[in-house]
Amino acid sequence: MKRDELISVVEAAVLAPSVHNTQPWRFAVHAGPASTGSIDLYADRSRLLAVADPNGRELYISCGAAIEFARVAARSLALECRVQLLPETSDEDHLARLAFEGEELPTATDLALAQAIPKRYTERGRFEDRPIPDALVERLRECVVPYDAFFKVLGPGGEETAAAVLLAMADEIETSSADYEAEAAGWTREEPGRPDGVPAYLERQKMSGRASSFKLRGFGAETGRAVPPAEEAPPPPEHPLVALLGTPGDDYYYWLQAGRALGRLLLTAAAEGVAASPMTQVLEVEATRELLSHELDLVGHPQVLLRLGYASGRPSTPRRPLEEVLVDSSPGEQAG
Ligand SMILES: Cc1cc2nc3c(=O)[nH]c(=O)nc-3n(C[C@H](O)[C@H](O)[C@H](O)COP(=O)(O)O)c2cc1C
Repeated sequence: MKRDELISVVEAAVLAPSVHNTQPWRFAVHAGPASTGSIDLYADRSRLLAVADPNGRELYISCGAAIEFARVAARSLALECRVQLLPETSDEDHLARLAFEGEELPTATDLALAQAIPKRYTERGRFEDRPIPDALVERLRECVVPYDAFFKVLGPGGEETAAAVLLAMADEIETSSADYEAEAAGWTREEPGRPDGVPAYLERQKMSGRASSFKLRGFGAETGRAVPPAEEAPPPPEHPLVALLGTPGDDYYYWLQAGRALGRLLLTAAAEGVAASPMTQVLEVEATRELLSHELDLVGHPQVLLRLGYASGRPSTPRRPLEEVLVDSSPGEQAG
């Protein structure tokens, strides 16, 4: 495989979502003869959120999403792709190897998911009123199964209320910590310039114009139930689909699988015009994570809470240039 083809796969991988847009990954590409080659994905722990995500759970989930985006892109190029998670025990940053071992025609689904990669984005504004059809919800549920994950839609009564209350509680706990606030501010962008972090100057208006019980991570803005001036009609409340992605285990392997499932889920949704926004604060605070599991009667571990719905926005967060995420490698060499 030519290096250019491998690079195009990495270009797709970096479009994956990552917590705070930290993009905590590096890639080494290894070109090989005919349709063979490989890409290694490494964690970049200098981008770990030491306060919000001290164990790296969300870093692994972000990298898992990048693995899946790479796999989908490779499949659309007719590459047979084998994913090996945690391939070495001696290098704990080496999270995955994607090995390309020949050609295999892509399916219609492979192509549709690959086309959704540049369209997918995190929507923090209000969703349209139309509900997601049951058949699509069922496909979302099914698409995460191959990754050992589960997708649970929260019931509109008690389950959604519990999640909303616990989200607000987690937000309160996190934002009362000066360390959390300093870390979030470090990844909040107030003007264009840096190719990472969340562009709050673009997101704030969307976030505060949304009347919802589901508080979103603020990035410096007051979000949640919007309080309009008295003379203005209140914005109509939104009714997103609220769902949880979970896994039976809770270790590095399952965190990567959760990320892969998240990637697959978001692309399956985006291919049908459905956008999402993760709401993960509730899972960063140990106490609210446990309470949420309890309230939802979960057998397994919650990894990502999401709201989903129809929206017509488009990607707006920047990505780092490829030179920054590619590590040196030569054919056949196991770059580290
Ligand atoms: C593990 C994980 C957790 C996230 N948590 C949140 C969150 O709590 N609130 C939020 O607004 N976005 C959250 N996001 C979305 C990221 O901020 C977003 O993916 C990133 O800024 C890149 O933007 P994009 O998804 O539009 O490409 C999360 C993403 C991931 C992968």
